[in-house]
Amino acid sequence: MNVWHFSLLMAVFSFIASASPQQDQALFKQHYEKLFPQLSLNDYADGIYALDEIARGSWQTIEEFPPYELAIEQGETLFNTPFKNDKHYSDCLPNKGLAISHLYPLWDRTQNKVITLALAINQCRKKNNEAPLPYQKGEIAQLLAHIAFTSRGKLIDIKIPESAPLALAAYEQGKQYYYQRRGQLNFSCSSCHVQNAGKKIRADLLSPSLGHTSNWPTYRLKWGEIGTLHHRIIGCHKQIRAEIPTAQSDALRHLEYFLSFMSNGIPFNGPSTRK
Ligand code: HEC
Repeated sequence: MNVWHFSLLMAVFSFIASASPQQDQALFKQHYEKLFPQLSLNDYADGIYALDEIARGSWQTIEEFPPYELAIEQGETLFNTPFKNDKHYSDCLPNKGLAISHLYPLWDRTQNKVITLALAINQCRKKNNEAPLPYQKGEIAQLLAHIAFTSRGKLIDIKIPESAPLALAAYEQGKQYYYQRRGQLNFSCSSCHVQNAGKKIRADLLSPSLGHTSNWPTYRLKWGEIGTLHHRIIGCHKQIRAEIPTAQSDALRHLEYFLSFMSNGIPFNGPSTRK
């Protein structure tokens, strides 16, 4: 066999070995279906409260007078306040910035980049000569809360365009990050949220990663305020004493791209509340 044939053969092997995002998604969903046959796909939007019947009761009580309501109002005011140049967020976001949360992150063909909604908000600000907002809490979380509220009930619909190999590469990177062990405890996201989903770790039941991107931004009682998905993911890094990634870094945007694609078809229901 000559070198060319060998490399061709290797390419065929690696093609067989690497599953497509669609295959990944089917296997991911099957894993949880087997683990939790009582849950429908919609139930995963409720995070751990889909599994924890006792906690579900108090969560539903909190949701009757939700502590994120103020953040939605503040977000709406920010959203409708013009920039110094009289332009608005609605001038640079698709669909005037409403009912779009379930479509993010998306692959931007011009920038060749995974764009999360938080990044799109800051890109809009930059375009209009406004300073970027910090990514974990505060105004960005309020803006996201307003947009999320207008997106409720829409099914998560993330696309990885086949004609864009770099989009697939970003997805693969996100997937790798998800399964990579890290930190002093040497855990991966999947150690807790796939293998041990539904089991207890200290005082907490572990949620499935299916649906993990559906409820953001979220008011956490622990934070006493509303925060972003990347804020929460950074928290999980702290629990395993891992190096802390930066919110909206390539690593976390690609991770979000992977996680959101896994959750396609689940209704978006942010903002929400969690312990
Ligand atoms: C040591 C176990 C552990 C590891 C490892 C871990 N997490 Fe978590 N995670 C938790 C616990 C505990 C909670 C709070 C209870 C719950 O919702 O699962 C949580 C909550 C979350 C939530 C919020 C869910 C919701 O409904 O609001 C997200 C999102 C999340 N984790 C993502 C990740 C990602 C991504 C990784 C990998 C970078 C990761 N976690 C690694 C333990 C872990």
